[in-house]
Amino acid sequence: MRTIVITGGTDGIGRALALRRLRGGDRVVALGSGPVKGERFLEEARRLGAGDRAVFRRADLASAAVSRAVAAELAQAYPVVDALVLGAYRHHPDRVETAEGFERTFALYVLSRHLLAEGLRGSLERADSPVVLSLCGVGTRAGRIDWDDLQQARGSYRSLRATMQGARANDLLGVSFAERHAGGRTRYVLYNPGFVATGMAEPLRQPARGLVRAMARLFARSADETARQVAEVLDHPPAAPLSGFFRGGPVDLGRPGFDREAAARLHGALQDMLGETVRSDRPGGGGAGRREDRTD
Ligand SMILES: NC(=O)c1ccc[n+]([C@@H]2O[C@H](COP(=O)([O-])OP(=O)(O)OC[C@H]3O[C@@H](n4cnc5c(N)ncnc54)[C@H](OP(=O)(O)O)[C@@H]3O)[C@@H](O)[C@H]2O)c1
Repeated sequence: MRTIVITGGTDGIGRALALRRLRGGDRVVALGSGPVKGERFLEEARRLGAGDRAVFRRADLASAAVSRAVAAELAQAYPVVDALVLGAYRHHPDRVETAEGFERTFALYVLSRHLLAEGLRGSLERADSPVVLSLCGVGTRAGRIDWDDLQQARGSYRSLRATMQGARANDLLGVSFAERHAGGRTRYVLYNPGFVATGMAEPLRQPARGLVRAMARLFARSADETARQVAEVLDHPPAAPLSGFFRGGPVDLGRPGFDREAAARLHGALQDMLGETVRSDRPGGGGAGRREDRTD
């Protein structure tokens, strides 16, 4: 029985994939921040007769401390993990700082993915054909990394810019993982599912939310169909240490966006952020925006 850990496994693409893998006989550990979606996932698992192979772990992965702790806890509970699917994501229309002082989109989309992939690497390395699969924006050129202000602490916050920067950073997380763990067995797959009909647009403000919903009815693929394609990659991970897919087709990773120096630079910046105590003068951190007082 394979063990698949899916962040964001309680909704959208992650949930469709989780249920698909349960139907296929795997054990699935789904992570999400909300108990209602988690309970619904467990209920669906029981209906499939897979209740004993379904685990829900509630965790707000926008917290670096929680991401680190959950990775350690799962590594202890599951000495062998066959696949880690990184799918947790939420659009934040306003700039919100976590209690740790990180901008929330960056914390969830970038820091948490880094921490989970690193924290579960030991368990992944023990599997027959281990893979980290990041659901992301690979294959599009939009977005850039603002090296001087990674967390949009200066000037006005733009949610789309934060998301697209996260997408480019996710590309670099893959490059960095493959570089730093060259010789390891774990493959890293960047997977852009294209436009998929999920609840992802719900946090958007009107009229954007209505527009995306209408477009989804016309143009988006279903989460089930996407999960089928993603599952194929999990079942047959490419041999290359790093690979990219857009809607199931290969993405050329020879482009400038996958630059090793940029990946090393991002890794250094993440190390910096994660290694420091919360200070208002931290590079790229602190600044304007709403601050949360709890992150668990
Ligand atoms: N849908 C698309 O068109 C599309 C296109 C390109 C890429 N993608 C990528 O595919 C992935 C999945 O997207 P989706 O459309 O399936 O999203 P979705 O339907 O909105 O589901 C998001 C999942 O993430 C979880 N989540 C959100 N915030 C979290 C937090 N702080 N901590 C832990 N879990 C959290 C949610 O559970 P809770 O709400 O309970 O926390 C939910 O399970 C994302 O990475 C997205 O960037 C999607």
